[in-house]
Amino acid sequence: MKHYYLLIICLLFLGQNLSSRDRVSLNEGWRFKKLDSTEINHTLDYAKIKQWVLPSGNKFLVTSNKPQKPTGNLDGGKYAQYGYDDSGWRQLNLPHDWGIEGPFVQQYPGETAKLPWFGVSWYRKSLDINASDAGKQFYLDVDGAMSFSTIWCNGHFVGGWPYGYASYRIDLTPYMKAGEKNVIAIRLDNPDESSRWYPGGGIYRNIWLTKTNPVSIAQWGTFITATDISKERATLNLKMNIDNVNSAKDQINVKTEIYNVDKQGNPTGKPLVIDNTPLKLSGKESLLEKSLTLKQPVLWDIDNPHLYVASITLQKNGKAIDTYNTVFGVRTIEFKANDGFHLNGRRVRLQGVCMHHDLGALGAAFNYRAMERQLEILQEMGVNVIRTSHNPPAPEMLDLCDKMGFLVIDEFIDTWVVPKKKNGYAILFNDWHEQDLRAFMQRDRNHPSIIMWSTGNEVGEQGSADGIRISNLLTSIVHEEDPSRPATIGCDNPNAAFNGFENTTDIFGFNYKPHLYSKFSADRPNIPFYGSETASCISTRGEYLFPVDDDKSGGKIGFQMSSYDLYAPDWASPPDTEFKGQDQAKANAGEFVWTGFDYLGEPTPFTRDLTVLTNYHNPIERAKAEQALKEMGKIEVPSRSSYFGIVDLAGFKKDRFYIYQARWRPDLPMAHILPHWNWSERIGQVTPVHVYTSGDSAELFLNGKSLGKKIKGEYEYRLRWDDVVYEPGVIEVVAYKDNKVWASDKIKTSGDAYQLKVDADRNTMKADGQDLIYVTIEIKDKEDLFVPRANNLVQFELSGNGEIVATDNGDPTSHEPFQNKNIKAFNGKCLVIIRSIKGQTGNIQLKAISEGLKKEIINLKSID
Ligand code: GAL
Repeated sequence: MKHYYLLIICLLFLGQNLSSRDRVSLNEGWRFKKLDSTEINHTLDYAKIKQWVLPSGNKFLVTSNKPQKPTGNLDGGKYAQYGYDDSGWRQLNLPHDWGIEGPFVQQYPGETAKLPWFGVSWYRKSLDINASDAGKQFYLDVDGAMSFSTIWCNGHFVGGWPYGYASYRIDLTPYMKAGEKNVIAIRLDNPDESSRWYPGGGIYRNIWLTKTNPVSIAQWGTFITATDISKERATLNLKMNIDNVNSAKDQINVKTEIYNVDKQGNPTGKPLVIDNTPLKLSGKESLLEKSLTLKQPVLWDIDNPHLYVASITLQKNGKAIDTYNTVFGVRTIEFKANDGFHLNGRRVRLQGVCMHHDLGALGAAFNYRAMERQLEILQEMGVNVIRTSHNPPAPEMLDLCDKMGFLVIDEFIDTWVVPKKKNGYAILFNDWHEQDLRAFMQRDRNHPSIIMWSTGNEVGEQGSADGIRISNLLTSIVHEEDPSRPATIGCDNPNAAFNGFENTTDIFGFNYKPHLYSKFSADRPNIPFYGSETASCISTRGEYLFPVDDDKSGGKIGFQMSSYDLYAPDWASPPDTEFKGQDQAKANAGEFVWTGFDYLGEPTPFTRDLTVLTNYHNPIERAKAEQALKEMGKIEVPSRSSYFGIVDLAGFKKDRFYIYQARWRPDLPMAHILPHWNWSERIGQVTPVHVYTSGDSAELFLNGKSLGKKIKGEYEYRLRWDDVVYEPGVIEVVAYKDNKVWASDKIKTSGDAYQLKVDADRNTMKADGQDLIYVTIEIKDKEDLFVPRANNLVQFELSGNGEIVATDNGDPTSHEPFQNKNIKAFNGKCLVIIRSIKGQTGNIQLKAISEGLKKEIINLKSID
């Protein structure tokens, strides 16, 4: 009995405890159903229910004339209803991408990966809300759902958001019942013909329930910038938006404390700054602006990404009613029209890549470790900036960039009103661009990593009168939302650089125009510029075509691309051409290679049907491709993922990785030889050898015999020995810098496949049900030499506290499901991705087995 009273007292106390906001993950325990075509209810098509959905964006419209939600309820059909029995539906955890589950379908367009990412689906979840939460505000915070979300809470329509890359909040408060079971039902309607790449489908990012008191910091309600930065001090300018949903006339105290951050982004140590400001609330929203002085600021930089956190506590009668943390950094950025980009007062060349949002075999489903791994691989290459092409990324991607020292171009959109795809953003632009752009910027503008806001990519309006109008409009929104950073736009239309369109943005981005850099610099001396998309070189890891053809439209081998890094679509170029353009126009701020990683979809140049065969130069290769198509009984090419990546879909480096590393990390001694040296069919034939090195010259040796020393000339970025006659053995390069030995590389012809070698990127992972270990399998010969053309089938057996979530080998033509527990090696390598199981710590054992080869076992661990 005593205990019972104690419990009641505790509950009462909790009920009155106004102190905390709660932000809890809602990722677990959803029910999911994908509708078949007969079940799709067209009464819920966006065009028909738009007036219900539009008001969800009202917070971001700067007008007094906002759309009003119709009265009554929007009937969502049986799946939206509170009492619907969903127990027969599939159970799953988010983030979830239904498209990546496949299967690949040959008839589907390669442009979007031949995967079934489109369609209508429902997600439902029950939520028990404590009685003690009565009187709180309940917000559903969705980081991303693809796409056209509409949401019901306990059978009542609560809102929606069409843009699949947007993060958004829906207020559940009017319909949530404290002390009861509540049901959230989310309908997604992902139209086909809506994307130029693989978009994924589903609630593919994290989803949260945020509980606050009626007085709280608003959604993305803080904005912190630093000005007057010196060694001694920086002025921190804080804007705080405070919600007061009941329009209470309360007097509160706003306490701001600035701290250093720990690894999780939480405050650590003693506060560096403390401020208390009284505030009289009135109306539903209040804005408080403060300037605080931070002494001896440690600057955020790419070499030392130092972060601070502002912890803001709202207090009423001395009691905390909300605490909200904002991570930020102190740094200066400046673009100079005649001298590129400057970070903290020094010039930094933008060594960038464009990245789509998918995570290879995991599809669009966001995973923190998968993203971190991509960034680690890119950082090893020397990348210091990412362009989030062509849409807002997952919020955690920006957290990672802040922590790891990447700069970012945060990009809004791929399309304005001129459509690129029938059902793409053009159908939303007029109604949604303001809400989407402002919401996206308010979400992201505290990240020190972000240096520019991109308002668009290769929009159809470039240069037209309408384009100038829209571009000016978007740039003005950017300036309103964030006066501390410039706007940019990626342009492929050369006219847009000279016909007035260039004046509609702050920093001009050229897509694939290295030949225009010098002219622009001379003709537009006041506009900073850079290559917003560069190269678009295409290659397949480990594939080489002979004779080596320098014509950039060559290089096709069946449905693979030669990895001599000389090939690109007609609008694009090999890396070397871009480097030259930059080096001839020093004012250029840098480049963003298309792309860092291969991505799902857009398998240029193999995007069309049999007409693709006319693209083949080499008649033998054309015949091979035709034969391959016939054998498969196919009318379309099989390719499902891109060839643009410097790194393949599985995360394996292509040769190109090293031409960028050589340029971007000049102090790192390195040399890289291509091709591999297993050409039993080419004995006596000319087999060119190319070398990428951060040195200035190199000498090549074949079986100990020198093939001569080469020196990089002006505007030369690779060393070429084009007349090497193949003989098996050892090909070796010794690179020099300033006449001193600098680096070397050696490849030895391997024997037959004999064994599997297994290498994990880490030996332990967290038992949180999300963390991953990536295990690479290489096929080796008896002497432990890599067998570069091996394609043995590798089977995986896993025991213990983990599960295999995907396998991959980086082959852009593979239609094997990523979920298979076996995979063929592709050019000697394959990958298996292991995920932890929530709450299950302990050993994990992975066996890699392949018929006729020596197997290998690796022991891993899942830990607390
Ligand atoms: C660009 C476009 C990118 C991608 C690329 C391939 O024109 O902006 O999204 O399609 O071409 O080269």
